[in-house]
Formats: sequence, structure tokens, C-alpha cells
Amino acid sequence: MQQLLSNLGPNVAIMGTQWGDEGKGKLVDAIANKFEIICRSSGGANAGHTIIVDGKKFIFHLLPSGMLHPNSIGLIGNGTVVSLTDLIKEIKDLESMGLDISGRIKLSLRAHLILDYHKKIDAELENRKGDEKIGTTCRGIGPAYADKISRIGIRCEDLLDKDLLREKVIQNCTFHSKNLGLDLNAETEIKQLIDVLDQIKPLLCDTRFYLKNAFKEGKKILFEGAQAHHLDIDHGTYPFVTSSNISAGGICTGLGIPPKQISGIIGIAKSYTTRVGSGPFPTELNDENGKYLQDTGHEFGATTGRPRRCGWFDAVVVRDVVDLNGIDCLNLTKLDVLSGMNEIKIATQYFLDDTELFSVPTTRKANRKLKIKYDTFPGWKENLKGINKFEKLPINAQKYVLAIENLTGCPVKVIGIGADRSNLIYR
Ligand code: GDP
Ligand code: IMO
Ligand code: MG
Repeated sequence: MQQLLSNLGPNVAIMGTQWGDEGKGKLVDAIANKFEIICRSSGGANAGHTIIVDGKKFIFHLLPSGMLHPNSIGLIGNGTVVSLTDLIKEIKDLESMGLDISGRIKLSLRAHLILDYHKKIDAELENRKGDEKIGTTCRGIGPAYADKISRIGIRCEDLLDKDLLREKVIQNCTFHSKNLGLDLNAETEIKQLIDVLDQIKPLLCDTRFYLKNAFKEGKKILFEGAQAHHLDIDHGTYPFVTSSNISAGGICTGLGIPPKQISGIIGIAKSYTTRVGSGPFPTELNDENGKYLQDTGHEFGATTGRPRRCGWFDAVVVRDVVDLNGIDCLNLTKLDVLSGMNEIKIATQYFLDDTELFSVPTTRKANRKLKIKYDTFPGWKENLKGINKFEKLPINAQKYVLAIENLTGCPVKVIGIGADRSNLIYR
């Protein structure tokens, strides 16, 4: 690990390269004790990052997963959207598991609030879409970002002026009720905010200033990605995406830091592909192999419990992300899940009407016509438990990892072979 981190420099970003749930949280937790501050820059409690330590399971939604380490500061940046009631519940849940969290959270004054009405609008818009549902987490993410971009959003700093807060909540509830034909109750929303104010106030912080000083003092900072590149509002499979910028640029705007402060980026890629919710998924398997991956990989969402769709590893998907974000190396996760398969495939190229495509097409028509070229690899039977060196992996597993390196053009420096914090091989 030390070698890996010294090559990446002081401030490292962890980024999902597929459609989320690659195992970002696990690596963040594994390396977090080498950093002083762990930051979330985008999204909200739509994320679900599972960490397993000595059989004990922790799930982080908005709080950075690195906070399992007793000295880590968890910073929630201006680019996030925050439901205060969800945040307090998350803190309480973690504290009930023995973690001392609340004194170590910095919540940006510029972060936007998710109110209950955002969740109601999220559910309502999904309902109205019928067969075209995005399959959101219904956490109010899209509607909260919509308010932000429409310049009517309510920010954490508004909590410090009760009159203004009241005015804004009433205005927004009236506006959205009228537009959508809903009955949104401003008084209930205001009461909920006032009720949690005393618990939230100590967390509020000018996080940009805090980070500026941290850089000056030479503190090491870890940027914890949530969601993943192909769910990015600009670069993902629009409209089947989330509503924030997940890619490297989103870290800078979502925290207010100069791009040159990100000294290295680790991309997280599952050894196969999964996706929760609707949208294009070129290598999806609706057969016994897909079922095998879902069952063996326990592919059920940490936030909504929904089954994750499963498919082969897609080198086009990951290559695209490596190039666009300047990813330095990959952590290939869940290699153990492939043990027992007779053969394994990797998508290597896409073609549309004989023209090669270099990213996932976003239109339905193109996805229907898409031709995918696969390479096939022999599987391995051995259980990978306890293996701590690349060279000790079954030879076919080694060949599979090397093929991924070759096809994505990115070195695989970390390999996950189990859910526990310790189940990692560094190369
Ligand atoms: P994240 O959202 O990217 O942090 O990923 P999730 O936590 O939502 O999903 C990843 C799941 O895979 C979690 O249940 C992890 O405990 C589990 N996991 C992570 N790495 C490995 C691995 O290498 N092997 C196995 N078997 N499970 C893993
Ligand atoms: P982590 O950080 C997987 C997906 C939802 C839906 C789409 C839009 O755990 O990898 P939203 O509620 O954000 O408006 O939903 O994005 N999605 C995720 N899928 N992992 C996540 O986070 C996700 N966050 C959002 O399933 O398809
Ligand atoms: Mg997840």
C-alpha cells in the first residue's frame, strides 16, 4: 500500500469507473488511515458504501467511509445535497455501533439541503414516467439539484437565518405544489429543520477555507467518489444518470479546490459489471451467468435493497473513464466472485453499423443495434481466500487481470478478493 500511495502523491481521489457499487468505500476505508481528511464532493445519501471489518458491517451513505478511523475528519463539500434528518440518522446509526463520529464532521455552509418535498417530487416524477423510469433511489437527489440549478435552492447557510429559511421554504413549497399539483406542507418542513438545528449547527463549516488551510499545512486529503462515471450527469448514459458531476472535474467544483491539488486518481472497477436502476447496459446477462454473479456477489443495493443487474466486464466502459479522468491505476474488486465460472468474457469493442464506438451510446436505437465484440477467457475453480500475492492467484485469474490491464490501458495495482477490509492484494 505504501508504495502505491507514494506514487500517487499526497491527495488521492477514488472514483467509480462503471455504474456504481464497485467497492469504492472498501478501498477508501483500507487506505484512509494514511490521510487526515476524507471528502465527499457530490451526490448525497443515494450512495451506499459497505465496509466490513472483522465480520462487522458498516454502511455509509453521505458520511465518508474513511470515518471508521478514529482520527479521520469527514468533510461534506459544497457540491453535495444533504437531507439533515437522514444525516442525523446516519450519525446515530454509526454511533450505536460504537463509532464516535459527530465531532469529526465538517458540513459545507454552501451544500444544498434536501427537504422532504424533494423526495416527494422524486417519487412523483418517477411515477409519471411509467415505463421510462430512471429507477432513482427516491432520496430527492434530482429535485434538490434542480432547485440548485434553478437558483431557488436552500443551502446549509440559510439555516442560520430562521426568517429567511422560513420564507424560502414557503416559496418553494408553494411553487412546486402549484407546478406539480402536489400538496407540499411548508410548516412541516420548517419544523423538521428547526428541530435538528442544534445538532447540525456545530457541523457547519466554511469547508473551502478549511481545505485551503489544510493544503497549506501539508495535510493529506482523500477524495471519496460516490456513484460512478457512467452515472455522471454530463458524461454518463443520460438521462439514466444521477444529477451531479462525479468525474474528476466534479471534485474541484464540489469542494472548491484547484485541479492541481488532486495528485493521483485510483479508479475502482468490479471484475464484472453491475447496474441498479434503468438505462443502457451493453454487457448485461439475463441468463444463468448473470444469476451466478448476482447470487455469488450478493448484488443487492446497499441503499434501496434492489437487485443489481449483472453482466460481463466491459473494457470499453472502463477505458472511456480512464481516458476522460486521467486515472492512474485501477483497483479491480470482487475477483473472488468469478471463482467457479467455466469461462469469463470481456467486452473489448463496440460497433454501430460497422463503425467503432468508444463510449456507451445513449440513444435507445443505437443500443438496440450495438454489436459487441468479446474476448473469452478460461475460468478457475479455486477459492481466492487468504491469497496475499498476485503470483499466488490461480494462473487463469492472473491472466484475466493482465487482460483487463491490457484492454483498459491502465495498471491494476490493487485486487479485491473478499469483502473484508483485509481482503486486498497490492501489486
Ligand atoms: P461502493 O458503493 O462502490 O462503495 O460499493 P458497495 O459497498 O455499494 O458495493 C460493493 C459490495 O461488494 C459491498 O457489499 C462490499 O462489501 C463488497 N465488496 C467490496 N470488495 C469486494 C471484494 O473484493 N470481494 C467481495 N466478495 N466483495 C467485495
Ligand atoms: P454508490 O456511491 C449505484 C443510480 C440509481 C439510479 C440513478 C439515479 O453506492 O456507488 P438518483 O437517486 O441518484 O437520482 O438515481 O443513479 N445511483 C446509484 N447506483 N450506486 C450508487 O452510489 C448510486 N447512486 C445513484 O440507482 O439508477
Ligand atoms: Mg454502493
